[in-house]
Amino acid sequence: MDLVAEGNRLRATGASVVSLAIGQPSDPAPQVVRDAAARALQDGRIGYTDALGMRALRESIAQHYSDHYGVAVPTERIAITTGSSAGFNLAFLAMFDPGDRVAITAPGYPAYRNILRALGLEVVEIPLGSDPHLTADHLRAVHRGQPLNGLLFASPANPTGAVTPPDAMASLLTAAAELGVAVISDEIYHGLCYTGGDATALQFDPNVTVINSFSKYYCMTGWRIGWMVLPDYLVRPVERIAQSLYISAPELSQIAALAALSAQAFLEPIKQRYAANRAFLLERLPQLGFSMAAPPDGAFYAYCDVTRHTNDSMAFARAMLAEAHVAATPGLDFDLAEGHRTMRFSYAGSMDDMVEATTRIERWLQHRAG
Ligand SMILES: Cc1ncc(COP(=O)(O)O)c(C=O)c1O
Repeated sequence: MDLVAEGNRLRATGASVVSLAIGQPSDPAPQVVRDAAARALQDGRIGYTDALGMRALRESIAQHYSDHYGVAVPTERIAITTGSSAGFNLAFLAMFDPGDRVAITAPGYPAYRNILRALGLEVVEIPLGSDPHLTADHLRAVHRGQPLNGLLFASPANPTGAVTPPDAMASLLTAAAELGVAVISDEIYHGLCYTGGDATALQFDPNVTVINSFSKYYCMTGWRIGWMVLPDYLVRPVERIAQSLYISAPELSQIAALAALSAQAFLEPIKQRYAANRAFLLERLPQLGFSMAAPPDGAFYAYCDVTRHTNDSMAFARAMLAEAHVAATPGLDFDLAEGHRTMRFSYAGSMDDMVEATTRIERWLQHRAG
């Protein structure tokens, strides 16, 4: 965030900054989504909805599980939330007690760690090392040391873009069930896998809590709208906590989200642009000395090992921004122990951005070397 702010300061002075640091789509929500919201505004009253969300939206999400994954999910088990961020808070509050031990991966999305700590839960970071994703072996080894209460993992993951293959996910979930570890699966980057289809944790275990969002594939970050699929026993607790925390997700965003679920014709071309950007960076970044630290199979991130250039990715990112006017995210945000060796490049922008950023980086590296 400091680098984003610094990039904005530079822009305000008239500099042209190319940002590969952003963790959000560069496109607006599809036109049909904005039209649905505009109609709702014209119609007038926007009010509270049920704490679990509008029935029509919950039904459409249940239908989405059947259409997209072939999994039957009753509407009653779906809760609409103010983005997946609210979903984490609700899940942690409903599933765990203060002092419980919840495992996440390192590297991983930093808010997991921050929210868990803020709620008095013990964060157990499982270092992935050179493994692209979490495995049943990782889980068993950590649990053997000191038992865990919970596990949160994401596929596709942020910052690596790594996708957990279905068989590995099945083994992980079987191990978690055997060990009595409650699982949360963050599926916010579903829809954005470039090497195969999406696998939801629900295909392997109906008792997993799934968290998803309209932010990424649907290009709706600012609408703050997401959902959870809950095991039966968590529906009522989540409903009650949501009632007290924020009453309901914004009705306007729920109406818009309903339109988003049938906006594939607008969203697939955006995904195809990400795919082209990804192919370009997969070739170009290694040429510049940034090797892939994990296979970037999903989301819109390439997570790179930058040790050919530096052992201090934060200072390197600051210098790259100040001197080449290209922003990327230092790995320390995602991995406190090893992130000084890595950087995350987002390819959610345009192909022109990818070309311009890599051209500038190349020139800058030559200049530094010379
Ligand atoms: C892995 C992951 N989960 C959750 C979120 C939060 O998304 P939102 O609250 O917009 O749904 C993000 C945002 O970058 C993310 O990368």
